[in-house]
Amino acid sequence: MSAPHIILTAGPTIEPIDPVRFLSNHSSGRQGFALADALAQRGAQVTLVSGPVGLPTPGGVTRVDVQTAIEMRDAVMAALPADAFIGVAAVADWRPAVRHTAKLKGEKAELTRLELVENPDILKEVARLDASRRPALVVGFAAETAPGPDELEKLARAKLERKGCDLIIANDVSGDVMGGEENSVLIVSRETSRSLPRAGKGVIAAHLGDSVMALLHTPSRG
Ligand code: C5P
Repeated sequence: MSAPHIILTAGPTIEPIDPVRFLSNHSSGRQGFALADALAQRGAQVTLVSGPVGLPTPGGVTRVDVQTAIEMRDAVMAALPADAFIGVAAVADWRPAVRHTAKLKGEKAELTRLELVENPDILKEVARLDASRRPALVVGFAAETAPGPDELEKLARAKLERKGCDLIIANDVSGDVMGGEENSVLIVSRETSRSLPRAGKGVIAAHLGDSVMALLHTPSRG
């Protein structure tokens, strides 16, 4: 098999309110960048579509920088075809319905109410592309504040069905996972689940990189 093409999303998206304010989240991009690095080191051709983060591009990775969820979706669709899509980004679920072109003035209380509209769900859109465009392997992440491992697996399985993807990498973000250095994950497919103990995001990325590359080289996945 020639080098598989893998598209990843990473980091947060930012959704402007006006030229100086935006809605966003605490995603650092570390897990996605570490996974892009691990996959490139394992011989994949990697396209990394990244929201605004302060991280260097891993060697051998093609990076596309975006700001908003809509830009991220468009960049992912433009990067197809691919053998795998891995949605690591913490995409903002909502964006302001209106993007003001002039800075809103605090003293005039111009903004007392923010109307929001739903952003595209990139993972779901990719997973539900028709067979000719859908990557063979579509992987999502699930950041949950689950009370226990059984609950985390249940939430991951529900997400697998809802999104229509092939694997969910679930993590419990009750602690300092988001923006932190470490992570512990549960890898859930329709048939199996496997947990990786708490470790640095680089170690987790190496395991996930091995799993993804193995699945891409296996004709029937599970
Ligand atoms: O529904 P939830 O946000 O928990 O789903 C998380 C997964 O879906 C992640 O893989 C994330 O990258 C992806 N996602 C997406 N577009 C969205 C929301 C989430 O691709 N608008």
